[in-house]
Amino acid sequence: MEDRATPAEHIPVLFAEVMEWLRPVPGGRYIDATLGLAGHATGILERSAPDGRLLGIDRDPQALSVAQARLAPFGERAVTRCASFADLRSIAEEAGFGQVDGILLDLGVSSLQLDEAERGFSFRASGPLDMRMGPSAEFDAAQVVNTWSEQELARILYEYGEERRARRVARAICSARPFYDTLSLAAVVARAAGPSGKIHPATRTFQALRIVVNDELGALQRALPQAVTCLAPYGRLVVIAFHSLEDRIVKQFLQREVHNCICPPEMPVCTCGHRATLQLGTRKPVTASEAEVARNPRSRSARLRSAARLGGSV
Ligand SMILES: C[S@@+](CC[C@H](N)C(=O)[O-])C[C@H]1O[C@@H](n2cnc3c(N)ncnc32)[C@H](O)[C@@H]1O
Repeated sequence: MEDRATPAEHIPVLFAEVMEWLRPVPGGRYIDATLGLAGHATGILERSAPDGRLLGIDRDPQALSVAQARLAPFGERAVTRCASFADLRSIAEEAGFGQVDGILLDLGVSSLQLDEAERGFSFRASGPLDMRMGPSAEFDAAQVVNTWSEQELARILYEYGEERRARRVARAICSARPFYDTLSLAAVVARAAGPSGKIHPATRTFQALRIVVNDELGALQRALPQAVTCLAPYGRLVVIAFHSLEDRIVKQFLQREVHNCICPPEMPVCTCGHRATLQLGTRKPVTASEAEVARNPRSRSARLRSAARLGGSV
């Protein structure tokens, strides 16, 4: 498993752009809160040699063990923790990374998780309906698909999958359940959802299930304000989102944090007392070049945004 899980072809998304915006320097301290297979982390450690340090966090123990092997050559410069970035602040403090020069969040699933049929993330390979990124997830995809009401299923398919035929798909799922594997679910969903342009018709349903099982949006919403408090003055935050729901959360958070007052425009005087904590780096999201998309189709939907912590204390 480990050998298959350390694919030579693992390509970190927007690698050059992450290095450009994070700008690791010797002696710097960094957090990669989505360590994955340590592609970006390796770049950060190489560029911050000889004494830069990195805390790598991932909620997936399988990814973490691959990453630890890859980071072994960096010795004590790399520290890892198996945890959710939803608890970023306490993890960072406990590991001695309370004030850092840069934080990276490269959201979503890794190629290891997608390619490993047993993890149940893929609608292209037969596997159990699992989709848990790690042991902290409270339930798996089978529980959602086989026990949630038709209304609840329709709601999550619409909200988290942006599936236009959410009700129809939910009805089809409820009539055909129980499901035990990914391919039989994907077949029923594909029939109900119908053709969907270039993407597989089960893409949106699988995305919705994955988001719910791992509380992906909730974790991101909790992590972003904590990330700001972990940044030293002028420290940089870089976030890569892979779908519009995540990207909207990041965009709205950054917009709020770059403004001194967030009162509604009709308020004659400021009552919110909000003070800006960040300065925008990227004005527009950075996307993958055509060459990168050709090399790595998974980069197609990546959107990178960055910001830097203002000087002084929050
Ligand atoms: C796109 S991959 C990261 C790839 C990595 N940047 C690299 O270069 O190999 C996303 C990783 O984030 C992890 N992840 C997703 N949500 C998480 C969370 N809430 N807390 C910690 N890790 C999370 C996943 O388990 C996955 O390994």
